[in-house]
Order: sequence, then structure tokens, then C-alpha cells
Amino acid sequence: MRHMLNPLDFSVEEIDRLLALATDMEHRLDQYAHVCDGKKLATLFYEPSTRTRLSFESAMLNLGGSVLGFSSADSSSASKGESVADTIRVISCYADIAAMRHPKEGAALVAAQHASIPIINAGDGGHQHPTQTLTDLLTIRALKGRLSSMTVGLCGDLKFGRTVHSLINAMVRYPDIRFVLISPDELKVPSYIREDVLKANHIQFEEVNSLDEAMSKLDILYMTRVQRERFFNEDDYIRLKDCYILDKKKMKLAKKDMYVLHPLPRVNEISIEVDKDPRAAYFKQVQYGVYVRMALIMTLLEVEKPC
Ligand code: NCD
Repeated sequence: MRHMLNPLDFSVEEIDRLLALATDMEHRLDQYAHVCDGKKLATLFYEPSTRTRLSFESAMLNLGGSVLGFSSADSSSASKGESVADTIRVISCYADIAAMRHPKEGAALVAAQHASIPIINAGDGGHQHPTQTLTDLLTIRALKGRLSSMTVGLCGDLKFGRTVHSLINAMVRYPDIRFVLISPDELKVPSYIREDVLKANHIQFEEVNSLDEAMSKLDILYMTRVQRERFFNEDDYIRLKDCYILDKKKMKLAKKDMYVLHPLPRVNEISIEVDKDPRAAYFKQVQYGVYVRMALIMTLLEVEKPC
């Protein structure tokens, strides 16, 4: 039995196969309408979510399966003090696969250790968010035709942004990838990303404060929101929350084929005037998130691809 806790749980070849399956779904969705008939997905969300939870549910419904679950810790037995380990033992009797989001780093790993069904990490604190990364990889591959030889700018809250950590982890495995890490000093990537992921893999990267200066170098710009819920101090959040705002003026500095991605939700970091720019790809990204989660559910449940 396999789980998806970290993008590195799948080899580059396995990710390629998964993205190919997701692309096939994009083109002939109808053929997949019954491949998971009779199967159940549990969505265990201890932290707020719109896209991730609903995209998992939409993915399972598209495959003919059904969904059950909870959308906040308050409405689960966690509020009575039940441990993740016990909850997942119980859920293993109700569902065939589970997607879990939890505010604590490592919670999905604990769940996987006690589950008898595949567990998908739908975000564990500021740590990892592998299915957002699969979404990002599918989007980048669809827009650029490749996942290699490019400069990726990551901008905003690189300290607490789990989507950033997962994306860096996944992209260092492709040839000739460079990163420009754009953040205020207080929100730089954690040192394990800098040392154990970037430096250990001999990846070319720079850490800068100015988005304007970075714009012209980038092939992809990955914007992120400042993660209010992970700050210890509201004053720090208020000081940093609007440190980057991508607007039309900044987009003029970018290459004609530079695409803007964002895991969403957006707060202020992308001005709505950018939405009309053909290079704004963040809403397309949402649709790719459904296909990739369909492909992941099928893969973990070992369901055959229809001919
Ligand atoms: C992200 C998350 O939850 O980490 N959202 C998402 O899953 N699409 C990013 C965020 O909340 O800022």
C-alpha cells in the first residue's frame, strides 16, 4: 500500500506517468466516469480549505466514487481529544482512501503509520503540500511544454508556505532548474530547504528582496500569500502582509511567455487587474488540480486506466 505524504514519495518516472494520466483525463473525462464505482474517499480536514477539499471531492465524484468526511476539527472527535492515530484507524473501516489536512507538521505521516488505507497529505502545517505540487507541475508542463531548463521565481511567504517547500523539493529533480527566492528577510525559506534541498542538490538559486528586479529573469512566477495563521505575532503579520503586490506595471517587466501561478487563496498579492493578462494562469491551475487528484486517487487505489 502506498501513500502520498511528500512529492518525493513518487519517483520522477512515476510523476511523469501520473501527469500523463491527468492529461488523458483532461481530453476524455467521460471515459473515467465509472473507474472508481463503489469506492469511498474520506476527506479529513482539521484546517480550513476550499480548493483542496472540494477538488478532492470533485475528483472522486468524477471517477464515480463517493465521498465522506469533515471540514473542521471542531466538527470531528478531535474536539473531544481523539488522536490522529485513533481517528485514522476508525476511518480505515469507513473508506478506501483518505486525504488529510492538519495544522501540525508530520500529522499525515502519523496517520499513514496507523492507517490500513492509502493516505494523501493535503497539507501538514507549514511543511508539505504534495497535491498542490502535482497541480503546479501539471500546470507548468501544460503551459511551457517541459519541467526542465527554466528559472522559477517564488515570491511571498517562503518561510511558512508549504506549497513553496513542496514545489522546490519536487523541481530540483529536473535538469537545469534555477530559483529566484523573493521574500522579505523575515520570510525566507527554512534552512532545511536551503541546505538539504537546494545546496545538497547543487541547484542554482538566489535570495532577493525585490520582485521588480527579479521579474525579467523569470519563466514562471509563483506568488504566495503571507500565511497569517502561522504567525505568532499579529503586528509582524500586518507589517509584512502587503510586502509584494503584483500589478500591471510589474507584469510589463516580465517575459512575454512568463506565467504567473498561485496556489490560492489570493489576498492582496496579485492585483485583480492582472487576472486579464494571458500570462495569469492561477485559475487554469485550479482545473488542473482536479485532474491530477483524479490521477492520484486512481494510482493509489491501483485502478486500471480505461482503454
Ligand atoms: C495553500 C495551502 O493551503 O497551503 N492553498 C491551497 O491548498 N490551495 C496555500 C495557502 O493557503 O496560502
